[in-house]
Amino acid sequence: MKLFDVYPLNDINIVKALGSYIWDAKGTEYLDMYGGHAVISIGHTHPYWVKKIEQQLEQIAFYSNSVKIPIQQMLADKLGIVSGKNNYQLFLCNSGAEANENALKLASFHNGRKKIISFTKAFHGRTSLAVSVTDNPSIIAPVNETENVVFLPFNDEEALTGYFNKAGDEICAVIIEGIQGVGGINVAAESFLQCTRKLCDEYGSVFIADSVQCGYGRTGKFYSHDFAGVDADIYTMAKGMGNGFPVAGISIAPEIQPKHFMLGTTFGGNHLACAAALAVLEVIENENLMNNAATIGNYLIAEIQKIPELKNVRGKGLMIGFDVPAELKDLKRNLLMKHHVFTGEAKPNVIRLLPSLALKRSDADKFLNALHGEIASLTKQTATAAELQSSGAGRV
Ligand SMILES: Cc1ncc(COP(=O)(O)O)c(C=O)c1O
Repeated sequence: MKLFDVYPLNDINIVKALGSYIWDAKGTEYLDMYGGHAVISIGHTHPYWVKKIEQQLEQIAFYSNSVKIPIQQMLADKLGIVSGKNNYQLFLCNSGAEANENALKLASFHNGRKKIISFTKAFHGRTSLAVSVTDNPSIIAPVNETENVVFLPFNDEEALTGYFNKAGDEICAVIIEGIQGVGGINVAAESFLQCTRKLCDEYGSVFIADSVQCGYGRTGKFYSHDFAGVDADIYTMAKGMGNGFPVAGISIAPEIQPKHFMLGTTFGGNHLACAAALAVLEVIENENLMNNAATIGNYLIAEIQKIPELKNVRGKGLMIGFDVPAELKDLKRNLLMKHHVFTGEAKPNVIRLLPSLALKRSDADKFLNALHGEIASLTKQTATAAELQSSGAGRV
């Protein structure tokens, strides 16, 4: 049987990982500035996380949501404390798309409406409704097309206000990433999030803060929407929540009431997933990782801003993006193949950094050295090629 070929792959077989480093089958060491797509929050194979998963595995890995699972409540209590939203309610599921799917469905159950506002360049996942609110027609199958979704320009208060003034009573929810990830690291303006909150309050719409990529402490605050000083009605989370163990959830404001069977899942909230997620929160708290993300992130942003070739350096904490000019188009590939540094990308020309929140200053310096070295080398190659061309040596 063949694998269904949907991923363009690097020819690298990663077999071992620790902290911010990963190793391939040949023993080559790589610095992971990508965190396996923002998933590694507390560092690969963190010993406390491994121990807690092992201990849980020896007790029980799974039983269905037909019985009490006390570790779910322990996780909810810890999440309430670390996220600063003690009075919210937790529903557990398995992936980011599923979290958004449940959030949108819950919003619609809550106010009985259908219209959802999403924004240009948004990415919310690949399941039915999650992909419908994603601004990428190439991944929306005909069956997922719906007239219930409206895309408005990101960070455009006038357009948002205008739409609410026109159709506010029909709007079920607004879904927004605090920092767009797949879209290329675009930070939602604080005033835009405040405007969203105000309009949702005025018209009875649900504010859904997609925190799947930008949440879980990555920006230095637990939810990146917190920078705007507003509370969303529903936060969706996944990626960093399990540090690689598949677990996701939605944190729901107290005014949204549950009803039996309204939401449900077989695997969501299983014992093993909760043990992994609880260990992650304990490590974030005990090792002060949100502060570390802010400190190392600010350092990286300031240092990358000093590199004149790289444009529009942006982001918060350890969610950083910058534009790469055409002359440096091989930068990402060479960082990986020559310098053994994994980074992320966003089409067409953005490099994304999404490392573990435990990234050390020495790791950040190692990355910066590789970045400087590779930019110098690519710039020299371009200059030599231009010289050859102007001297005529390149002509046949
Ligand atoms: C902001 C955002 N929301 C949702 C998702 C979907 O998450 P998953 O791939 O776990 O379904 C992603 C994945 O990249 C994401 O970045």
